[in-house]
Amino acid sequence: MSQQDAATLNQRFGIAGQLEFTQETNGLVVARIANTHALCAIALQGAHLMTFQPTHEQPLIWLSPVARLVPGKSLRGGVPVCWPWFGTHASESNFPAHGFARTVLWQVAESAALPDGSTRITFELPQSAMPAMQWPHACRVRNVVTVGKMLGMELVTENVGDAAFEIGEALHTYFAISDVDKVRITGLEGAEYLDKVDDWQRKTQAGSISIASEVDRLYVNTETECVIEDAGLKRRIRIAKRGSRSTVVWNPWIEKSVKMGDFGSDTGYRSMVCVESANAAENVVNIAPGAAHALHVVYSMERL
Ligand code: BG6
Repeated sequence: MSQQDAATLNQRFGIAGQLEFTQETNGLVVARIANTHALCAIALQGAHLMTFQPTHEQPLIWLSPVARLVPGKSLRGGVPVCWPWFGTHASESNFPAHGFARTVLWQVAESAALPDGSTRITFELPQSAMPAMQWPHACRVRNVVTVGKMLGMELVTENVGDAAFEIGEALHTYFAISDVDKVRITGLEGAEYLDKVDDWQRKTQAGSISIASEVDRLYVNTETECVIEDAGLKRRIRIAKRGSRSTVVWNPWIEKSVKMGDFGSDTGYRSMVCVESANAAENVVNIAPGAAHALHVVYSMERL
């Protein structure tokens, strides 16, 4: 599929003083939003949000300092869109982890300047970008990003075929934090989770979450808001969601992050934590013909 180029996109969807498209030397296009509320950059590859920084504040989203946009490769950081499955495919181990949506080209479908000064941009995943061998279902997928004082993301899957299908998905959000020692995550107290670092054992969360070693947990049946309390940056990040019944909390810690090789330094893992709004494991979503499912998340920040 050919990529929409920056010049054409600027003509069709650019908004003076708010939204501009730029092209990297390798041809990949980035939508750049700068409005009175925030700065934000989103790559068309993967509809991958790379940065979000409210005006006069530190970035909310973590992007590895060595992240480079390369065709067909997901960026380490930002908000990868995991779709139409989360993690390893249930039966085909050679299918890409977290689905194919994060590494293929999306298209821009709409843009709008909203009355409150926010900017909205809608990306659509064309059916032609979905490998039929991995995904033989007719559907329409959109990622609607609203950049204001808060960041809104809505991942919508519409079944336009004549048979039901099942999806797993996640907005795999990497948050910027002061230091892993100085944060705790609340909102999942008492929830059950599958512990990937302990052979997927099912456990119950006691109290808030602190991170002092590798954490890779899939919390099931969790629809409540999560909060990242950051005593170092003296701020609270609030993650409010709808249409998401799973929450994944991930920090690879030192050994795994060094092995991954794209965290920028041996201590890169200390400045990030993923709190992912998902539908995975027993929470995958069945979508009937003609029906649609939306996973909607609003990220906001307040000072402590
Ligand atoms: C998390 C998974 O969602 O993503 C982890 O729970 C995984 O197990 C992590 O390591 C990163 O995945 P990837 O494919 O982007 O390296």
